[in-house]
Amino acid sequence: MRSSTLLTLLTGVAAVSASPLPGRQEVTTTTTTIFSSSGTSSTTPAFPIHSSCNSTLSRQLTRAFDETVTLASVARDHLLLHGQSSPFVKKYFGANSTTIAPLGVFSRVASAARGKMLFRCDDPDRNCATQEGWAGHWRGSNATQETVICDLSFAPGKRRWLDQVCGLGYTVKGGATNLFWATDLLHRTFHVPQVSEDAVHHYADGWEEVLGMAEKGDERSGFDSDALIYFAIDVYAYEVAEEGRGCGGYEMGN
Ligand SMILES: *[C@@H]1O[C@H](CO)[C@@H](O)[C@H](O)[C@H]1NC(C)=O
Ligand SMILES: *[C@@H]1O[C@H](CO)[C@@H](O)[C@H](O)[C@H]1NC(C)=O
Ligand SMILES: *[C@@H]1O[C@H](CO)[C@@H](O)[C@H](O)[C@H]1NC(C)=O
Repeated sequence: MRSSTLLTLLTGVAAVSASPLPGRQEVTTTTTTIFSSSGTSSTTPAFPIHSSCNSTLSRQLTRAFDETVTLASVARDHLLLHGQSSPFVKKYFGANSTTIAPLGVFSRVASAARGKMLFRCDDPDRNCATQEGWAGHWRGSNATQETVICDLSFAPGKRRWLDQVCGLGYTVKGGATNLFWATDLLHRTFHVPQVSEDAVHHYADGWEEVLGMAEKGDERSGFDSDALIYFAIDVYAYEVAEEGRGCGGYEMGN
């Protein structure tokens, strides 16, 4: 039973990878096997990277997406294991919240079919060239499944890797939500309907608003971009980076 389920899963994924992508022959369609903390494995499709990303940029993006999947998988597994009793769930999504929404979002980031979504390194909308400080952008109505990553994203010191979480004075409360490649790309995937089904939005802006929204029992918390990012990185800090301690930067129990 188990192996036939696995076979079905693998066949399904192979069919997705092998399906023709009209006009997108340049897109990478390899698959990555992710091992979850429970020791089981599932195959997850890679995020498609456009040929405008040269080998240097493409390799960094591949690593960054692997970390994004890791971040989402750790969050998903935490939700499956602890459900509503998790203090992180109570903190970021509310004391009486359901985990169904964040669980769906993180599962889709980790494992949903990638369809026609695409990450590119050229500047088709000229936003990298003309918008001061933009490190990337969702293409919105110009190409709703596409995201541009500007050269600025690759600048030295701009983004950190997950193994730097809890290092260099970082705290979840005090750190920017786009400090890490994984948290930055998590946010960018939330904008892409192929992943988020257009259900994740910006309702709260920053730490205080996220906590305020959860405290009020606002049901949008589980669909809020910042709440989802803070939850994911706080759980990662606590479970992986500095196990059993984390680096929240706030009093535990608050
Ligand atoms: C790739 O593109 C970046 C940014 O445009 C550039 O700095 C880098 O030198 C390029 N790498 C290669 C191998 O061409
Ligand atoms: C869409 O393209 C137009 C024209 O190239 C550009 O001005 C606009 O900023 C683009 N929209 C987004 C969301 O980038
Ligand atoms: C959660 O539910 C309990 C029991 O129904 C209620 O007393 C409490 O006010 C609720 N809290 C929020 C934030 O909605």
